[in-house]
Amino acid sequence: VDRVRLGFIGCGSVVRVMFGPFFRDLRGAEVIAVADTDEASARYVKQLYGVPHAYTDYRDLLAQAPVDAVVVGTPPHLHEEHVVAAARAGKHVLCEKPMATTVAACRRMIAACRDAGVLLMPGFMKRFQGSMLRAHELVERGDLGRVRHARADWGGIGIPSLRTGPSPEMRLAWKPVTPGGGVVHDLFSHTADLFRWLLGEVTLVGAEADVTQPKRSVDDAAVVTCRHRSGTTSVHVINYFSRRPWRECYELDGESATLQIRATGESWISTHGFELTLFEGPPPRATRITPNELEAFDLELRQNGQYLRELEHFCRAVRGEEPLRVTGEDGLRTAELVSAAYISAWRGAKVAIPLQEDEPDLAALFTDLKARRHPP
Ligand SMILES: NC(=O)c1ccc[n+]([C@@H]2O[C@H](COP(=O)([O-])OP(=O)(O)OC[C@H]3O[C@@H](n4cnc5c(N)ncnc54)[C@H](O)[C@@H]3O)[C@@H](O)[C@H]2O)c1
Repeated sequence: VDRVRLGFIGCGSVVRVMFGPFFRDLRGAEVIAVADTDEASARYVKQLYGVPHAYTDYRDLLAQAPVDAVVVGTPPHLHEEHVVAAARAGKHVLCEKPMATTVAACRRMIAACRDAGVLLMPGFMKRFQGSMLRAHELVERGDLGRVRHARADWGGIGIPSLRTGPSPEMRLAWKPVTPGGGVVHDLFSHTADLFRWLLGEVTLVGAEADVTQPKRSVDDAAVVTCRHRSGTTSVHVINYFSRRPWRECYELDGESATLQIRATGESWISTHGFELTLFEGPPPRATRITPNELEAFDLELRQNGQYLRELEHFCRAVRGEEPLRVTGEDGLRTAELVSAAYISAWRGAKVAIPLQEDEPDLAALFTDLKARRHPP
């Protein structure tokens, strides 16, 4: 394949805000079709980003549009159906995170893609962001010394002027009617994958998850702790409840330095980057090592833009030019941590990885978590 022909299943915020803006700039690939059960959404993305074909049934896209690969950007509880159908149609798949809402579903998706001989890549785009790659390099090179502790702090109120997608309130709005989860699914899936990549596999998970407001039916505030095999501990504070401005910040405490990775805007906008600062001392010394804020928009997007780099990497893998850097197995491992966090929050006990037990019925779990916080 010289030029990978792509289709997108789902035309919601992830396509409108994150991927759509650079559809026309893709190298070695072109987006030729989109599908969404909501006709207006499909038409909107088709017209705004100049996509030739739009469908209201993803099966028509798979059967009629000559695509080599698809990006699945539907709500998480539908990923399995859409990925398995795409694989059976012989299409390579980039599936948005979380790859699925259960480990069992991840297994079936991996098997379907393997049987069909197509690639499956979960959408952990942070691994492609310029600052994150630099952070990974610093950790690997030992510039921080041995990393003992790490923090992820993510959430708050979004900046409406910067987004065309839904507000955090609205983002959760579709979830009450689906068996998908709240912030643990939505944000911890990202921070868990990021810290697995930076700090290694996890062996133990503990969590508190809250449904803080009576009108909500899934978790909107959570704290997850992880023990990594290396002995590093990490804390993930994530929420859609805080009234503070949106913030996304990671800190890695090594024996010789602390690395701070802080989002400079709303990190999901195509070009928004992360600032890197290295703290050493005593006496305290801060060195700014941000590899972004390049002069030209195009350079910034190409060197740091996580969604563009993620998608172009996926397309190079489809063309057989490089191996996938994130695999279905990564999607499964992260789903396992998400399930472990929900089980831990439900039971009030830490959960060992690999997960030895059946995954919980999420609907029952959320009902119970909510009843504890808001007794009937
Ligand atoms: N990587 C990221 O930064 C990032 C950011 C946002 C969302 N996401 C992920 O992308 C996925 C979608 O999230 P979103 O925020 O775009 O949600 P959204 O609700 O804005 O959009 C989902 C879209 O899917 C459509 N849809 C529902 N059922 C469908 C079906 N059967 N066939 C075709 N289309 C269907 C809906 O009509 C809607 O337009 C989720 O997995 C989410 O976690 C990832």
